[in-house]
Amino acid sequence: MATGRAIVGPTFVVLLMTTISVDAGDNNGVYSPCADTTVQYKDGFTFGIAFASRTAFFYNGNSSILLSPCDSRLSLSTQSSQISVFRPKVDEISLLTINTSSFSPDNYGGYMVAFAGRKYAARSIPAFVANSTYTVTSFTLVLEFKKGRLQNLYWKRDGCAKCSGSSSSFVCLNNQDCAIRTSSCKNHGGSVDCSLGMQLAFSGTDKHLSVFNSWYEVENLRQYSLYNLYANLRDSLTSQYNKIF
Ligand SMILES: *[C@@H]1O[C@H](CO)[C@@H](O)[C@H](O)[C@H]1NC(C)=O
Ligand SMILES: *[C@@H]1O[C@H](CO)[C@@H](O)[C@H](O)[C@H]1NC(C)=O
Ligand SMILES: *[C@@H]1O[C@H](CO)[C@@H](O)[C@H](O)[C@H]1NC(C)=O
Repeated sequence: MATGRAIVGPTFVVLLMTTISVDAGDNNGVYSPCADTTVQYKDGFTFGIAFASRTAFFYNGNSSILLSPCDSRLSLSTQSSQISVFRPKVDEISLLTINTSSFSPDNYGGYMVAFAGRKYAARSIPAFVANSTYTVTSFTLVLEFKKGRLQNLYWKRDGCAKCSGSSSSFVCLNNQDCAIRTSSCKNHGGSVDCSLGMQLAFSGTDKHLSVFNSWYEVENLRQYSLYNLYANLRDSLTSQYNKIF
């Protein structure tokens, strides 16, 4: 099984201005989340997460025209938004974290979209992260490739199973997200580190038609709580809840 050895740190950067170090075996020379590429095993793949209000991701606010944050017609840069850029390896399950100690998603519209590509732009639907009442801290993002080219990005909802097992401090939103009260978060004067944890999984095929299967591992492992895989993760995002409540 491929486990995510690297935790790609949070980097809030201006779009297109990121520098990311090269890993051994990584032959993908495209580092911008707003450019097209094809990948193979061992490559890194750059994608972005944009935080903004839900309507900011739609062209002229029209809810049937969802554009990529790379599309200048959205003019995200003139609105209250934040971009985070990551470069995971395509053949590994990775856990990304976005440290919220100096960044409150609810101050930036409260929704996020994952995106990559230009001509072949792919973007996820906006996912609710936080408002002044609730904050969701755990996400699973699936990156689906076909012949090495990104086709689709989607949020895999965990449902609220984790909610019921934990404490009453968690609330199940819309039967799909387990949320904590924003007032409990450190960035709002509370005691919980509400940093965002994001599991990544890759599905589909690389440019040599080899199959990415980390997605199947996620499906099978979900029942055992993927976080156990990251037992050595410093500042584990979930264990703190058990300590605090
Ligand atoms: C939104 O976009 C669709 C597709 O282009 C169009 O048919 C519709 O009229 C638009 N709605 C509004 C409110 O502009
Ligand atoms: C976020 O950053 C703060 C300040 O550097 C640190 O104390 C905290 O442990 C970090 N949280 C995570 C989940 O890494
Ligand atoms: C926050 O989001 C939740 C879930 O979507 C919603 O029920 C609630 O009304 C929102 N609260 C505010 C203050 O917007």
